[in-house]
Amino acid sequence: MSQSQTAVIIPAAGSGERLGMGVPKALVELAGETLIHRAVRNLASIAELIIVAAPIGSEDEIARAIDAPNVQVVSGGPRRSQSVANAIKVLPSNFTYVLVHDAARAFAPTDLAQRILNELVGGAEAVIPALDVVDTIKVVDSESYVINTPDRTSLRAIQTPQGFTREVITRAHAAGKDATDDAALVAELGVRVKVIQGDPLARKITTLDDLAWAKELVGHS
Ligand code: CTP
Ligand code: MG
Repeated sequence: MSQSQTAVIIPAAGSGERLGMGVPKALVELAGETLIHRAVRNLASIAELIIVAAPIGSEDEIARAIDAPNVQVVSGGPRRSQSVANAIKVLPSNFTYVLVHDAARAFAPTDLAQRILNELVGGAEAVIPALDVVDTIKVVDSESYVINTPDRTSLRAIQTPQGFTREVITRAHAAGKDATDDAALVAELGVRVKVIQGDPLARKITTLDDLAWAKELVGHS
């Protein structure tokens, strides 16, 4: 098998509960385009293969919504990490780099993915985009009493796409562990994770406020 360079994994199997639109979030339309279609379109030029993890039962609908070459749809799992792991299972071994990108960050520009990829080509094993944190963050206990206040200058809000060598991302998911992002599993291996400047356009569409931001962006209300 000849060597291919980059595959993108898009976890899109969430239900979109906080958005509350009654359909999986990846199928929510903005300006006539589903979030999954937009996410794929923005990353298509940097990848030879895109693997999308779809909600169980919505695989065909997701495949129809994307309608692009070099896209493979797999069933997601009950947690994001399991959805990514299911995609890794079908990832051919001839890829060198893997970017993992939330369908919910459908507006992340191609340029951000390219900058992540450039770091991998330059020798990094794990690269993630981040924005500075503007609010003061507090750690609280289960009864909402403050435990401490971490120094804000050392905090970052992490986005996707996150980039890894195929070897590292495969190893990170081999034990079937769960985390809210892939870099956390990679860091557990002792691999150094490089943080680069993120992009406000890579905002995760989680709530109706985020959807309003996205509608504004595409010029529809
Ligand atoms: N995701 C996934 N499989 C899951 C859960 C989430 O592939 N079992 C994906 C989502 O589709 C999304 C990304 O992980 O692209 C980030 O998750 P989130 O924003 O939490 O999306 P949802 O889980 O759909 O939203 P909610 O938590 O509000 O239900
Ligand atoms: Mg979720």
